[in-house]
Amino acid sequence: MRTALNAITDELKRLKAMGVKTVAVSDESVATLRRVVAAHALKTQKPKTETGKSESADTPALVRLASKTPAPTPASKLPAPPVIALPAGDKVARLAWIRDLVLNHPVCAANVRPGSKVVLGVGSLDAKIMFVGEAPGAEEEIQGEPFVGPAGQLLTRMIGGMGLKRSDIYIGNIMNWRPQTPTPAGAEQIGNRAPTAEEMAFCLPFLRAQIEIVNPDMIVALGSTAAQGLLGAGSFKNLGDIRGKWAQFMDKPVMVTYHPSYLLRPPVDNWKKRLVWEDLLKVMERSELPISDKQRGYFLDK
Ligand code: URA
Repeated sequence: MRTALNAITDELKRLKAMGVKTVAVSDESVATLRRVVAAHALKTQKPKTETGKSESADTPALVRLASKTPAPTPASKLPAPPVIALPAGDKVARLAWIRDLVLNHPVCAANVRPGSKVVLGVGSLDAKIMFVGEAPGAEEEIQGEPFVGPAGQLLTRMIGGMGLKRSDIYIGNIMNWRPQTPTPAGAEQIGNRAPTAEEMAFCLPFLRAQIEIVNPDMIVALGSTAAQGLLGAGSFKNLGDIRGKWAQFMDKPVMVTYHPSYLLRPPVDNWKKRLVWEDLLKVMERSELPISDKQRGYFLDK
């Protein structure tokens, strides 16, 4: 058992050193790990300190990992962000132009794994609401479309709850590629890491161009990375301090809310869903969408 624990902690340390901040672990595995860690802690427990804590050098790295500051992100290698001057023309032509530029951009191409895709936003060119997320994940880099994995499926249901379809709105990301972690040749990347400030700065002109083309009435920033990308990294400390409030980017009102993946993370409860839903109600009100009593009351019960 101890050997298995050591193997897991070594692997987590290795991933952390590479800049990986999250790894996907099933609920079943978490439950098993909790049992193993608890049994191990009981065996190695030291007398409690005055604060009641029994932190020891033996505390499994698995437990300590979560409480430490995030590992530094990979070293910088990107050129300066591109300067984009959109050509004249209608929305269709201009979007085709930026799509061609981004999908064939040598820097974007160099940052995706062979066989994976660079991802640009999708949706209605007349959208009144633009959703902005963080970066493509495993599913998105395969399909070349934002928000098609589990978080994307939840986002689609959230949009449905607003009485809209995915095709009514526009969905973009701060990043156009999935931030990579070093992975043995031929192996699949496990988990995602947050983009570096430099990566975000490089991709931001592509998002600005899409906002300029679509010209939505308002933007919904999904999660901390999207909020940092749009409002600036130092503009807030905790996402909870700014969510639910209107901010601004490129003269557009921005509603900041939690990322759908936060709602998928345990504990999955109605309280979290209600917070996000209240933010979306504000978006619906501002864009003068009809709101039924049923919609107003979503996630209030239970
Ligand atoms: N999460 C994001 O932020 N964007 C995607 O496209 C998919 C998942």
